[in-house]
Amino acid sequence: MGIFSKLSLALAAAALVGPAAARKPPISRPELQWGPKTPGHPFPHSPKRCRTCFVPSASGSSSGGEGNDDAPAILQAFKECNKGGSVVLDGNYTIASPLDLTFLEAVDVVITGTITFSADVDYWVEHSFKYTFQNSSTFWRFGGKDVNIYGGGLGVIDGNGQPWYDEFAKNPTLLRPILLVLDGLEGGSVTGLKMRNSPNWFNLITNSKDILVSDMDIKVRSTNANPAKNGDGWDTLTSDSVVIQNSHVDNSDDCVSFKPNSTNIVVQGMQCNGSHGISVGSLGQYPAEYDIVENVYVYNISMSNASDGARIKVWPGSDTPFQPGLSGGGGAGYVRNVTYEMFRNQNNDWAIEINQCYGQSNQTICNMYPSNMTISDVLFLDMSGTTSAKYDPKVGTLVCSSPEKCVNIAAHNITVTNPSGRTPQWICTNMDEALLDINCVSK
Ligand SMILES: *[C@@H]1O[C@H](CO)[C@@H](O)[C@H](O)[C@H]1NC(C)=O
Ligand SMILES: *[C@@H]1O[C@H](CO)[C@@H](O)[C@H](O)[C@H]1NC(C)=O
Ligand SMILES: *[C@@H]1O[C@H](CO)[C@@H](O)[C@H](O)[C@H]1NC(C)=O
Ligand SMILES: *[C@@H]1O[C@H](CO)[C@@H](O)[C@H](O)[C@H]1NC(C)=O
Ligand SMILES: *[C@@H]1O[C@H](CO)[C@@H](O)[C@H](O)[C@H]1NC(C)=O
Ligand SMILES: *[C@@H]1O[C@H](CO)[C@@H](O)[C@H](O)[C@H]1NC(C)=O
Ligand SMILES: *[C@@H]1O[C@H](CO)[C@@H](O)[C@H](O)[C@H]1NC(C)=O
Ligand SMILES: *[C@@H]1O[C@H](CO)[C@@H](O)[C@H](O)[C@H]1NC(C)=O
Ligand SMILES: *[C@@H]1O[C@H](CO)[C@@H](O)[C@H](O)[C@H]1NC(C)=O
Ligand SMILES: *[C@@H]1O[C@H](CO)[C@@H](O)[C@H](O)[C@H]1NC(C)=O
Repeated sequence: MGIFSKLSLALAAAALVGPAAARKPPISRPELQWGPKTPGHPFPHSPKRCRTCFVPSASGSSSGGEGNDDAPAILQAFKECNKGGSVVLDGNYTIASPLDLTFLEAVDVVITGTITFSADVDYWVEHSFKYTFQNSSTFWRFGGKDVNIYGGGLGVIDGNGQPWYDEFAKNPTLLRPILLVLDGLEGGSVTGLKMRNSPNWFNLITNSKDILVSDMDIKVRSTNANPAKNGDGWDTLTSDSVVIQNSHVDNSDDCVSFKPNSTNIVVQGMQCNGSHGISVGSLGQYPAEYDIVENVYVYNISMSNASDGARIKVWPGSDTPFQPGLSGGGGAGYVRNVTYEMFRNQNNDWAIEINQCYGQSNQTICNMYPSNMTISDVLFLDMSGTTSAKYDPKVGTLVCSSPEKCVNIAAHNITVTNPSGRTPQWICTNMDEALLDINCVSK
């Protein structure tokens, strides 16, 4: 950074603690509580903030300004207002360089403006933050303690995804950034924001605990024939006590997905459209690792136009080349104590899918190498609605690679129908059918 830009940053910072200090944030923090289901304890108390830092916008009054980068000013505001303040982003900002905000403590982030990421694909591939898990990367990340990010329904985080969809169509191993990563956050919330057109997953919550996500609105659309791929709503990884609730997701991959070592997770009051369902997994991808997903409650969900409603997907016991940049299998671990309750289906291909052959289309290979992942204590309760015509009269598939690998999987009060009105059929393989109040057929 040149002397001139250092100077202008210093001046901008000085302006913040001057008259700006008296300005109040444009909206106040929403009430932060999870419910009706909880991870067993209340959301941690977060003290009131008492300083405010408004972030000036270098990219000017129009969004997506070229040649300007608001990242340095945003970082400066977090340094000023960390430990007890609120950082306000009420203008249009472009982030054009990586932003590491993992040092935060007791800070609110008020977003009533629009944050966009620059379209320089080559730059970001080089400079994004990298994670080994599934070749993930991101533009920016938040971590620390007690951080509340809120937008009051006004704020927008826009991934500017189209150049990524276009490039990905030519290069299937392109490292596409995740729109928002919480990494190492203990006590925090993300509420009232619109998220648009992520290049990849919308949210990754990793190495975190006591996180509330609520009142979010996610949408992804490609404007041409190059599809927006892998736009999961949320992924949790190595995180405990996470609640995702009362949100709307319109995407084309998992609505919410529980990746390795997700524990005490609640997802409730969601409306998902066009997704791949609410998914445990994929798990068992890495042979050297032991994956755990435990104590998950998925409650009160409306799911439409999805490939799956409730889904559990684990890799087979042998190495499997699935897609460019996505391969694996043979990893061990378990899925335990997962409940799906009050789940409304509309035009989903499968209402329930349990699959221990993820990424492998040849079932013979999966039977030869049963999954190293055990699935136990799973309950499907009060599921209703009608599936799509795709597999009619079948409405669900529960296929385990061996009877020892699926234990105590139960389904009660399942009233899911198919469009033809024929008796709904469920594929059940290696399951204890005495626990399933559904019409099991073998194939
Ligand atoms: C942000 O940009 C949009 C146009 O892209 C403009 O209408 C709006 O006024 C801008 N907002 C601010 C606060 O400058
Ligand atoms: C998950 O937890 C297991 C058991 O504690 C551990 O061996 C493994 O390394 C963890 N994996 C990740 C991705 O954190
Ligand atoms: C279910 O979720 C919707 C929001 O999608 C909410 O309005 C409703 O109150 C919830 N019902 C229950 C029983 O929690
Ligand atoms: C829901 O998803 C379907 C399929 O992806 C899409 O065609 C439709 O426009 C979406 N509906 C709404 C209301 O967004
Ligand atoms: C199962 O998970 C639920 C939360 O989803 C929790 O309340 C319950 O205590 C767990 N049961 C066991 C046996 O761990
Ligand atoms: C499902 O998709 C159809 C179009 O494909 C759309 O009309 C409908 O609104 C979608 N359902 C929901 C709940 O978004
Ligand atoms: C990550 O991407 C590289 C390059 O495309 C690929 O070789 C590797 O298998 C990928 N890793 C995983 C875990 O999928
Ligand atoms: C599936 O795998 C088996 C065992 O390797 C092989 O004999 C068979 O040809 C494969 N089937 C297909 C359709 O590739
Ligand atoms: C994983 O499963 C494969 C095939 O089912 C088996 O050969 C292997 O020993 C298992 N590995 C572990 C670590 O359990
Ligand atoms: C069965 O589930 C429906 C919702 O799909 C619910 O309204 C009804 O009360 C449940 N019946 C019983 C006996 O629990």
